[in-house]
Amino acid sequence: MRIVVLHGQMHKGSTYNITKLFLENLSDENTEITEFFMPEDTPSFCIGCFNCFMKGEEECPHADKVQAIVKAMDEADLIILESPCYAFGMSGQLKTLLDHLAYRWMAHRPHPKMFSKVGLVISTAAGAGTKKVTKSLKDNLFHWGVAKIYRYGKNVAASSWESVKTEKKLKIEKDVKELSGKISKEIGNVKPGLKTKLMFHIMRMGQKANDWNPTDREYWLNNGWLGASRPW
Ligand SMILES: Cc1cc2nc3c(=O)[nH]c(=O)nc-3n(C[C@H](O)[C@H](O)[C@H](O)COP(=O)(O)O)c2cc1C
Repeated sequence: MRIVVLHGQMHKGSTYNITKLFLENLSDENTEITEFFMPEDTPSFCIGCFNCFMKGEEECPHADKVQAIVKAMDEADLIILESPCYAFGMSGQLKTLLDHLAYRWMAHRPHPKMFSKVGLVISTAAGAGTKKVTKSLKDNLFHWGVAKIYRYGKNVAASSWESVKTEKKLKIEKDVKELSGKISKEIGNVKPGLKTKLMFHIMRMGQKANDWNPTDREYWLNNGWLGASRPW
């Protein structure tokens, strides 16, 4: 099994340590883990050139950094996105990466492999905001087509992992173990649900009428999705 992790920060605080707990629970000797840390691995800010949408992702001025991450995501069975809550949102450095992946949304060019993958999103906050972060991370995975997505958010009442109270850490360990058990059963066995299929259907209607972006339309045509083929 392959896992790719997109960390929303470089430091090893609560979010990193909870992610590490998940990785320990989910892995065995055959697991290959690839990790990217933002901002070290973050491409430069999106400049809004529309090249990815209109000309192809390789025409993005930041394609080198973006495509290295995309390749690892395509090869993974499980995609983990994580970020601490900053001002009720994900970290800016992770958002900058996700902006570069808008061309992979179902509205444009979702990769067929996404429809058989599992996703996990993780966030911590001091007191409030993880729901917003995990919702936003989940939305990205959903619109990429990821078939099944799990969320874990925790208010840790702390500014570092070291200062998280022992009983809270024990509860986190228990939660992570339970959720990892569920996730392990799903990996390699998932199909998209009704909501994804409905979104795909709506986007397919859009592509049938698409006379403004030939790159997207050709992609759908070549995949056979404007006919009877589906990515699941
Ligand atoms: C710039 C910044 C903004 C933050 N905004 C929030 C917030 O909106 N809500 C909240 O409860 N905690 C907020 N916090 C606290 C962190 O989300 C919290 O301490 C989190 O557990 C840190 O995760 P980490 O240890 O992985 O860095 C903020 C912290 C920073 C540095």
